[in-house]
Amino acid sequence: MATMESLIGLVNRIQKACTVLGDYGGGDNTFSSLWEALPSVAVVGGQSSGKSSVLESIVGRDFLPRGSGIVTRRPLVLQLHKTEDGSQEYAEFLHIPKRRFSDFAVVRKEIQDETDRITGKSKQISPVPIHLSIYSPYVVNLTLIDLPGLTKVAVEGQPESIVQDIETMVRAYVEKPNCIILAISPANQDIATSDAIKLAREVDPSGERTFGVLTKLDLMDKGTNALDVLEGRSYRLQHPWVGIVNRSQADINKNVDMIVARRKEREYFATSPDYGHLSNKMGSEYLAKLLSKHLESAIRARIPSITSLINKTIDELESEMEHLGRPIAVDAGAQLYTILELCRAFDKVFKEHLDGGRPGGDR
Ligand code: GDP
Ligand code: NA
Ligand code: MG
Repeated sequence: MATMESLIGLVNRIQKACTVLGDYGGGDNTFSSLWEALPSVAVVGGQSSGKSSVLESIVGRDFLPRGSGIVTRRPLVLQLHKTEDGSQEYAEFLHIPKRRFSDFAVVRKEIQDETDRITGKSKQISPVPIHLSIYSPYVVNLTLIDLPGLTKVAVEGQPESIVQDIETMVRAYVEKPNCIILAISPANQDIATSDAIKLAREVDPSGERTFGVLTKLDLMDKGTNALDVLEGRSYRLQHPWVGIVNRSQADINKNVDMIVARRKEREYFATSPDYGHLSNKMGSEYLAKLLSKHLESAIRARIPSITSLINKTIDELESEMEHLGRPIAVDAGAQLYTILELCRAFDKVFKEHLDGGRPGGDR
């Protein structure tokens, strides 16, 4: 019997296949509704709150453009696919199919170039997502979406409308009921002013699909701490808050590598007089595991609706395949076939889970 982890992997692959067909984001059709029925995680927060840094820590790789100002100007849909131990790590972009990137510095450059291709070199934004898949033995199966930072004022060279445009773009992701919200707030700003919490509260008032993440704990004023937030007294969510220490800009400039940064983060919590008692529930590695676990239960909770949608997709695809006979576009035909196969596999695994009388999975 398949494990729940392979189910998440299957969800990931269905989402990828839907994406390759070019239908996601294109409005109402089988693939976009299937995509949206499957849970994913969107990272939201104010500009420079540490969104991209948190994503990188979850992945355990340097590959995102980071820095001050508006760096992330298009949504980045990042799919993490866990591969067998010992296998080679690589990345692939949807807009450059079949090219495997093993140098993550080149991945970063390509994200920047591809952003500029659509937005121009000005600081414009675009809702057209960049799709990136990472295949690695070190990741957990997850779909994560990095979004432009919420902002209150347009800067030099940007149209006034940018503030509203960014909010509209971010909102389009987080208002979907299957979107898990990773709400990033920096610890060196008052939580009451957090853009992430403000938006999350609007679209998810009960807090059931919001994970509060507090970055920059190391940048708080001496003599202060974030226990009121981390212990849920400032703003209560259904899930526990997770504190994070990402690399500072100085660390980035010095090329402090990710493994070293993770170790420093662990040490920070383990030796902290304020957070020592919480240390096993803090940090990027813990956050990645927490999210993956939550994703499992989110998928389980949606088994009935996903299965019915999958069955509908199977029916539609089967009749489409019959009509096509030989696919017109080879790639599209192959992708249809892939989705069909994945859906069948998904359906089968879910049935096994249900028939086994233990929908809780086998872990
Ligand atoms: P984004 O705009 O929300 O994606 O934020 P980035 O991840 O690009 O980070 C913005 C800046 O804040 C970068 O210079 C990071 O190095 C820095 N930064 C992010 N998180 C932390 C943190 O936990 N501690 C420190 N000291 N700096 C951080
Ligand atoms: Na930034
Ligand atoms: Mg960013």
